[in-house]
Amino acid sequence: MLSLHVNGKKQQVYVAPDTPLLWVLRDNLEITSVKYACGIAECGVCTVLIDGEAVRSCSVSLQSVQGSKITTIEGLPADHPVKLAWIEKQVPQCGYCQPGIMLQTVDFLSRQADPSEAQINEALDNILCRCGSHPRIKKAIKMVADMTKE
Ligand code: FES
Ligand code: FES
Repeated sequence: MLSLHVNGKKQQVYVAPDTPLLWVLRDNLEITSVKYACGIAECGVCTVLIDGEAVRSCSVSLQSVQGSKITTIEGLPADHPVKLAWIEKQVPQCGYCQPGIMLQTVDFLSRQADPSEAQINEALDNILCRCGSHPRIKKAIKMVADMTKE
């Protein structure tokens, strides 16, 4: 048995230690906001926060996150600036990629509170939205930066 802390709650699961975190979250804990796409750490769709840092959950084992604090999109409060900006800018199309991108944004803005357009573009370089919502994602990131500056 292994345990993990997700969204402020301790959970215990019976799975092999090398099981990817993605599958533990989805299959064992039924947190299906964490999505599967490439499975090889290329697209960012499965991103969660581990101790505040954006990590691709398809590519880390359950064992490697023992003792860490894991946050999925449900762990952000409803009035979190990223959630508010995403609604205001009507970012999602199908929505599949958005939880991962929003969590990646939380990490990005925690390291770069007032990013330039070039820095935002660079941050989006390694995430994939098949619906092409990138222009709205950029606007939402800028909005969050402006909100938190005020
Ligand atoms: S599914 Fe994990 S990075 Fe694509
Ligand atoms: S909104 Fe559909 S994949 Fe990004």
